[in-house]
Amino acid sequence: MSHTNNTQSIKVWDIGVRSFHWVLVFFFVLSYATGEEESWVHVWSGYAIVALLLIRIVWGFIGTRHARFSDFVYGPGEVKAYAKGLMTGRAKRYIGHNPLGGLMVLALIFSLGMTTFTGMALYGVEEGKGPLAGVVASQDVQLPQLISTAQADDDEHGAYGEHGDGENEVLEETHEFFANFTVLLILLHIAGVIFESLFHRENLVKAMVDGHKDVAPDREGDVDHVRVDDHEHPHRPV
Ligand code: HEM
Ligand code: HEM
Repeated sequence: MSHTNNTQSIKVWDIGVRSFHWVLVFFFVLSYATGEEESWVHVWSGYAIVALLLIRIVWGFIGTRHARFSDFVYGPGEVKAYAKGLMTGRAKRYIGHNPLGGLMVLALIFSLGMTTFTGMALYGVEEGKGPLAGVVASQDVQLPQLISTAQADDDEHGAYGEHGDGENEVLEETHEFFANFTVLLILLHIAGVIFESLFHRENLVKAMVDGHKDVAPDREGDVDHVRVDDHEHPHRPV
């Protein structure tokens, strides 16, 4: 990338966000790869994701500037304007997540949350183990039970077995659905990262590795669009 005299390297992603991201990638791949058979690796790798998500959500409120939800959750107006801008070739460049990227972060967190939640419910029902074991046992999982009994008369074990040693088709299907839905989001996420990197001529993956982005105030089309906080960069040339 050619650097002009005015190019500045700005710290965007703190070490917490970057570690969260790449450790999450590792455990997601591990969880997905070990899903076919229930194993301690699958369960504990899932718990690692639960812990990462909880930490990230807290960090979304108390973390550094671009890590906060308030920095990247935009209203529908701004999301639409950004999407339109992409189509007309005039989208603003955001230093943190852009409005569509922010939406994707929320979707990923939600879908990962649903995947792990249904996984823990399934583990509770099938094995009587895990943090939700007490809850699913005492609640009797009424809704899935009703649906699955109605749906699967021909299942020789019954679709819903005994607590602690049962099967629950609906929960298993739901868990699988969210795992696969997350994969779909991840593919869109990666496509989005590649597209945005080309569109704004920057390397977003590098930024998620070293935390920095280049900002050149004299770069074509960028001048008015880059959201740089003056108090963060008091010595920036005007
Ligand atoms: C298991 C797969 C993945 C998951 C679950 C995932 C999830 C996420 C999440 C939750 C964020 C938001 C980060 C935050 O604000 O804390 C994010 C951002 C990001 N991810 Fe991923 N990611 C995955 C794979 C990848 C891969 C393979 C790449 C590289 C091609 C990548 C590149 C990025 C980049 C560049 C950002 C920052 C986007 C921006 O600048 O707005 N991700 N990802
Ligand atoms: C993001 C994290 C996770 C992913 C991507 C994931 C993915 C999967 C996948 C793809 C399957 C196979 C579904 C099928 O073919 O029927 C599966 C099964 C299963 N998962 Fe997860 N899972 C995750 C987290 C968890 C957690 C946290 C738990 C419990 C603590 C869990 C418990 C189970 C159980 C009990 C099965 C059924 C295994 C069997 O009896 O065949 N999963 N998971």
